[in-house]
Amino acid sequence: MIRAIVVDSGSDTCRAGWAGHTRPTQERYGAAVRRATQRGYVENWEAAAQVWRSVLAPLDPCKSQQKGISPKFACEGSTVPWSGLTPAPVLLSETLFNSTRNRERAAAFFFEHVGVTGFHMQCSAQLSLYTSGRTSGCVLDCGAGSSSCAPIFEGYLLPQHASRMEYGGQDVTAQVADELQKRGYATSLKSCGPTFGTLTPAQVEEIKKEHCFACKTAEKYAEMLTSELMGVAGGETEAKLPDGTHISLGAAIRFGAAEQLFCRSITAAGRTRAGSASATASSLQTAVNKASWGVYDLDGSPPHVIDLVLAGGTMRLKGLQERLAHELALPGSKKSRPGYPALRVAWSHESPELATWIGGSIIAQLDTFNNMWVSKQEYEDNGPHSLRRKCF
Ligand SMILES: Nc1ncnc2c1ncn2[C@@H]1O[C@H](COP(=O)(O)OP(=O)(O)OP(=O)(O)O)[C@@H](O)[C@H]1O
Ligand SMILES: [Mg+2]
Repeated sequence: MIRAIVVDSGSDTCRAGWAGHTRPTQERYGAAVRRATQRGYVENWEAAAQVWRSVLAPLDPCKSQQKGISPKFACEGSTVPWSGLTPAPVLLSETLFNSTRNRERAAAFFFEHVGVTGFHMQCSAQLSLYTSGRTSGCVLDCGAGSSSCAPIFEGYLLPQHASRMEYGGQDVTAQVADELQKRGYATSLKSCGPTFGTLTPAQVEEIKKEHCFACKTAEKYAEMLTSELMGVAGGETEAKLPDGTHISLGAAIRFGAAEQLFCRSITAAGRTRAGSASATASSLQTAVNKASWGVYDLDGSPPHVIDLVLAGGTMRLKGLQERLAHELALPGSKKSRPGYPALRVAWSHESPELATWIGGSIIAQLDTFNNMWVSKQEYEDNGPHSLRRKCF
């Protein structure tokens, strides 16, 4: 049997590697990935093709055999030399509410230009859930381009209870850049205004990772902001740049950007391309509350406790998980559904940005997954429509 390749194609990073491995071996990020995928949807197919080719090329099944990697991970018995094609099945992740058209276009690329022997697409929420060892549950994914919450029952996603907002880590970074700019630090994320040297996007990202927090409560944030406006020292700190300059960061920068995840003030940013207004969330809490209606115990009865599985790189933001736990424990959250199920954070991977890829790696190597692949033959017989019977 030929080992499958798993590709998690996100708005910030594209990760790829062999199914059965614990980590992806290929990662691409930066401008090329951002040009290809926006808010989780492929927007520029040429750029996406380049990114996918570049992560697949080093995974040449024949090359890995030469390097002495266990033949289990190469195309066993294959004498096909590397020809720029990938004679292996590929499992590709997709964002919540991806369109059928996008899915079929991706399949066409993988079958016709990459030469895969099988193809399957699955929503990143489902894949992240498998990483936690569950097949039923509720996944809150906070990536770079979007945040979403989806209930899943026995592996099936329940779209009517899922929702998504187009606000994620890249928006947190952009807001940090905006605030820095207001204080006179030019950033090349948006370059206007006076200068104290120009901060690169990578530097702004580093400032976010190191110095930004989600406040424990909304009240605490309001308090800190008021103190700052009144000139009372509170949550400010200094960040040191690689060139030795120090820049000062106040509460609005350090805590304000993450606050938007809990209370979107600009509702337009919460649209989805699914075309359904009801699939739009205005905060993480509203997304979770909506998803809570789709969670059932295995016997079909309403649950007493709803366990949330967390995924996506933005879940690493300091204080975010604690704030989430606080918001979910508020009485308003429990009232979201009759029976008052409690909502709690049950699981988060130590590297939440890898949860999707790892879930794919787990299921793509199972024998039971064999009949989930759309085979090359099926694709040749029925064209892109063959996806509709196996990927939904
Ligand atoms: N330590 C950290 N603190 C705060 N944010 C972080 C940290 N590490 C990563 N991130 C953020 O996580 C985001 C990337 O997450 P992830 O890799 O899950 O996104 P993606 O899968 O590429 O995008 P998406 O799934 O939204 O299309 C980036 O915005 C990055 O800044
Ligand atoms: Mg992702």
